[in-house]
Amino acid sequence: MKKENTKGQWGSTFGFLMATVGAAIGLGNLWGFPYKMGKGGGFIFLLIYLILVFLVGVVVTLQELAVGRKSGKGVLYAYGSVDRRASFIGLLGWLAPLFIIGFYSMLGGYTIKYLVANLGDLLHAPLGVNGADSEAYFASFYQDQVESTVYTVIFVLLIIFIIAMGIRGGIERFSTVATPALFIMMLIVIARAVTLPGAMEGVKFMLVPDWKLFTPKGIINTISSAGGQMFFSLSLGMGITVTYGSYVSKKDDLPRSAILIPLADTLAALLAGFATIPAVFAAGLDPRQGPGMLFVTLQTVFSSMGAAGPLFGMAFYILVFIAAITSAVSVLEAIVSTSLDICEHRFHYSNRVVITLLCGLFALVEGVFVSLDGLGSHGFPQIFNQSTWLDTFDLLSEGTIMPIGALFAAILFGWIKRGYLDDEISLNSKHTGMRKYFDFCIRWIVPPVMVMVLLGQISAFFGLKWFA
Ligand code: PFF
Repeated sequence: MKKENTKGQWGSTFGFLMATVGAAIGLGNLWGFPYKMGKGGGFIFLLIYLILVFLVGVVVTLQELAVGRKSGKGVLYAYGSVDRRASFIGLLGWLAPLFIIGFYSMLGGYTIKYLVANLGDLLHAPLGVNGADSEAYFASFYQDQVESTVYTVIFVLLIIFIIAMGIRGGIERFSTVATPALFIMMLIVIARAVTLPGAMEGVKFMLVPDWKLFTPKGIINTISSAGGQMFFSLSLGMGITVTYGSYVSKKDDLPRSAILIPLADTLAALLAGFATIPAVFAAGLDPRQGPGMLFVTLQTVFSSMGAAGPLFGMAFYILVFIAAITSAVSVLEAIVSTSLDICEHRFHYSNRVVITLLCGLFALVEGVFVSLDGLGSHGFPQIFNQSTWLDTFDLLSEGTIMPIGALFAAILFGWIKRGYLDDEISLNSKHTGMRKYFDFCIRWIVPPVMVMVLLGQISAFFGLKWFA
């Protein structure tokens, strides 16, 4: 089956790589990796993370790209075309982005707000932070239902616009500029961060190995936390890589891309660490704040930098904005692509713009709902023991659907349909050893790691401390 996709294709290998790397590098890299690495054993975490990238990240990326390209379909039909019984894996892969798009767009809206605020500071305009306490400033923003909703809506409209312009004319064209720009901004921010007085403490926090974690329990905990982080960071198990793979030319070397994408993503995560943690330490603050680090701790750093603060603040939030928007585009495109398949299959209807608008409307409604929840500050009824709707949607996607889908996909290709992807993996590839490597890892390594990730996620979401 060597047919090309009917929806369209990437214009070039570079464009495909920029779009996929841009999709992978997101908010997960910026706050998740640096702080988990610091908290989870420094250099040991990094080492385990790198091993997992090669044994699991590269392998699952290759599997998803190959399923996408072989079927030429979005995630739902892609798995169904392998085996009808595997359709539920496609369904899970379609549900995950449906749950994610709302909260991710809200966070994207936050990045625009902070960009505007730092611009305001630069121009001494009333829109700025104006030296306010960062924690109070952040709280008054996310609790303001109107303001946070407006920013979410702006963000969703932007991603709808990019996607409506098409695979080549929208996503690829945008990513070809945005992804390299992201790396350049990162280098600028690092240059400032590591030269601040006291910054070296932050570098030490990230890198110095914590040998106390070198116990069986500590290692299992690190594998499950590094595995979960890697999975989220590479956007696996949620239809994105399958979708982007379905637009890849048959001439492309898939194994090469499956190595380059995780490497670029890991490099970005490490760079993000050097861009943020040293600055946090230099300001005498604690990086263990988790997600709040992006909008509270770092804003405190910029506000304390004097006249240059807003300038670096703007550079930083442009960077965060680019990371968020290229990822959000991929999340919505995963939804659009499968919706296009369904409409074409059922109703012989395939207008990308109309379907993008409909899916965009869904994203808008979900995004507005999560914004109105204001991180749980308005007494909305909550479910599954979570304190915000962001957490609930995250639990449903990252916490359960993504690892479960990836686990079953690994069982499918490692045990039930072994060898099914061989021709797609070797097609026009110079990496001849990859087929065997893929077969071994997807059979023996990915399934147990996915079980550990799943247990780690459930334990973290429900505060169960199974591995701690
Ligand atoms: N991989 C991106 C990140 O690290 O933020 C994007 C992303 C991942 C979006 C997972 C959504 C998601 F559930």
